[in-house]
Amino acid sequence: MAEQRFQNLNVVVTGGAGGLGKAIVDAFARQGANVISADIAFADEAAGNPIIPRHIDVTDEASWLTLMDFADAALGGVDVLVNNAGIYRPNIPFEEMPLDVWRQHLAINADGVFLGCKHAILRMKAKGRGGSIVNMGSGMSITANPSGAAYCASKAAVLMTTRTAAGAAGRYGVRVNAVLPGAVPTEMLMGNMTGEDTERAFLARMEAYSPLGRLASPEDIARAVLFLADPANAAISGIYVPVDGGNMPGA
Ligand SMILES: NC(=O)c1ccc[n+]([C@@H]2O[C@H](COP(=O)([O-])OP(=O)(O)OC[C@H]3O[C@@H](n4cnc5c(N)ncnc54)[C@H](O)[C@@H]3O)[C@@H](O)[C@H]2O)c1
Repeated sequence: MAEQRFQNLNVVVTGGAGGLGKAIVDAFARQGANVISADIAFADEAAGNPIIPRHIDVTDEASWLTLMDFADAALGGVDVLVNNAGIYRPNIPFEEMPLDVWRQHLAINADGVFLGCKHAILRMKAKGRGGSIVNMGSGMSITANPSGAAYCASKAAVLMTTRTAAGAAGRYGVRVNAVLPGAVPTEMLMGNMTGEDTERAFLARMEAYSPLGRLASPEDIARAVLFLADPANAAISGIYVPVDGGNMPGA
C-alpha cells in the first residue's frame, strides 16, 4: 500500500458537513489520519471510527474548549486543525447590508478562525510536538465584491489572522497557512444564483472567469489543504495558496 502521509495524526476539520469540508475530511482519512469532523449540523458521536462527527459552534469559545478537551481525551491531542466552517449571504448591495448580517459573517468567518487558531496553538504548544493549521479564506480575501461586503471583510480577516497566528506560533513549531478557493460548486456557491440564471448558465459564467476555463472541485481544494498541512512541508508558514483556475494571477 502507498505511504499514508497522515498516519496516526489527529486532524480536526470544522464545517465538516459542508461541500468542501466533506472532501477535506475524506482526503485526510484516506491518508491514515484520525479525523474529527466538527460542524454545527452534527451531534456528538463517540470515538471509535477513523472519522468522528462532533458538534461545534465556531463562534462560541466554550464550544471550542469542549471540542479540544474531547480531542485531548479521545485521541491524545490535535496535530492539524482546518478552520473551514463559513457562511456567505450573497447578492446584497453594499449600502443595503443589514448590520446583523454583517456581524454574522464576522462572527462565523473571522471570530471562528481566530478562536480555532487560538485554542489549537495553546494545545499544540502544551503538547510540544508542533502542528499545522490551515484556514479557509476565499478569492474574496483579496478581491473586492461590493455585493458581498461582509463576506469580503470577514475573509480578509482570515488572511491577516493567518499571518499574525503564523508569526506567533512559529516558535512552538506550529505552522499556519491559508487556502483561497475561487468558485467551487457546492451548496454555498449555488446560493449565488439569481432568478434569471439556469444552473448550467450560472456555472458556465463562473467557469468563464477562469483563464483555465474551469472551476476548482472540492477535491482540488482538499489537495491544497493536505499539502499545507503535511508535516513534510515544514518550512512553509504564513502563506496563502489560491486554488481558482488561475483567476488571481500575481495574487
Ligand atoms: N464553495 C465555494 O465556492 C467557496 C469559495 C471560496 C471559499 N469558500 C469557503 O470554504 C468554506 C467551506 O465552504 P462550502 O462551500 O463547503 O460551504 P457549505 O455551506 O457547503 O459548508 C459550510 C459548513 O459550515 C458549517 N457552519 C456554518 N456555521 C457554522 C458554525 N457557527 N459553527 C460550525 N459550523 C458551521 C455549515 O453547517 C456547513 O456544513 C467556507 O469557509 C467558505 O467560505 C467556499
